[in-house]
Amino acid sequence: MTKNVSEVKVFVSSVLPQIGIDMLRKENFSVTTWNNNEPITQQALIANAKECNALLCTLTAKLDATFLHECSHLEIISQFGVGYDNINIAEATKLGIPVGNTPGVLTDATADIAFGLMIAASRKMFFMHKKIEKGEWKNFTPTSNLGIELKQKTLGIFGLGRIGIEMAKRCKGAYDMHVIYHSRNRNMEAEKLLNAQYVSFDELLSQSDVLSVHSVLSAETKGLFNKVAFDKMKPSSIFINTSRGAVHNEEDLIKALNEGKIWGAGLDVTNPEPMNKNNPLLNMPNVAVLPHIGSATVEARNGMSRLAAENIIEFYKHDRIPNFVNPEVKQR
Ligand code: DGY
Repeated sequence: MTKNVSEVKVFVSSVLPQIGIDMLRKENFSVTTWNNNEPITQQALIANAKECNALLCTLTAKLDATFLHECSHLEIISQFGVGYDNINIAEATKLGIPVGNTPGVLTDATADIAFGLMIAASRKMFFMHKKIEKGEWKNFTPTSNLGIELKQKTLGIFGLGRIGIEMAKRCKGAYDMHVIYHSRNRNMEAEKLLNAQYVSFDELLSQSDVLSVHSVLSAETKGLFNKVAFDKMKPSSIFINTSRGAVHNEEDLIKALNEGKIWGAGLDVTNPEPMNKNNPLLNMPNVAVLPHIGSATVEARNGMSRLAAENIIEFYKHDRIPNFVNPEVKQR
């Protein structure tokens, strides 16, 4: 949609790195921002979006069918993030609202967190750190607090996209791990690059020493890692999730760890978020939990801010969205 941008009002629903806001203002968009680190309420989101042409939002804004019908006048939604499960894309598409996102710029940052969680869980790092804080570091104990090593173990990737590939590269480079994967589609290039082997979902469960989830959250993946799945995994295995918490069933995960169905877990995403501070996972020796910080580096967050702004600028100035989630809208 080419338009005189000085007539375009953009609402930004979270506090974001300034770079994207500056880019929009430099192009003369009229930008209003939500200046509070608390997630915006649905009421405030609707009220502000109603006054604007374009919405720049993050995963804490819930753009469900109700919101989209209330705000069907929106000309573009630009998501600050690669995941967009907070947006009802099918409904946005039906209403003819184009949606953009920010892939690529957070790939390394998120893969680093998956890799770090794997090591932290395998060596009980977070739990041992807490022991020092509690004054429980007494002496060197040759037979306790033992972790497990990762060298030449089998890494299973669920969802071999950009982040999954980077996680696999790190694991291959550092530990010469054998890579197996299960994805919606086979990735022949990645198979060649990583010597990765495509396996069925059940094979992924039964063969992985470390199983790392990098898929999107969808109707197919919601709750997929549940009792049935954990029962099929090795008792010595580690489950890592840096994608979306709702891909695993947290009660089943806790049970699987307690019953020794799996050995450990590393989570950057939880179900629900934020995690309750009394969650038993936080006191388990072989578990490492982080508060959804996969993309939390200066470089990644600046990149996300830039790409989210670019989607809006390019849409109004050149009738294109560089990272277009629902390009079907264009063909309507
Ligand atoms: C994403 O981009 O989907 C992340 O989870 C948010 O940083």
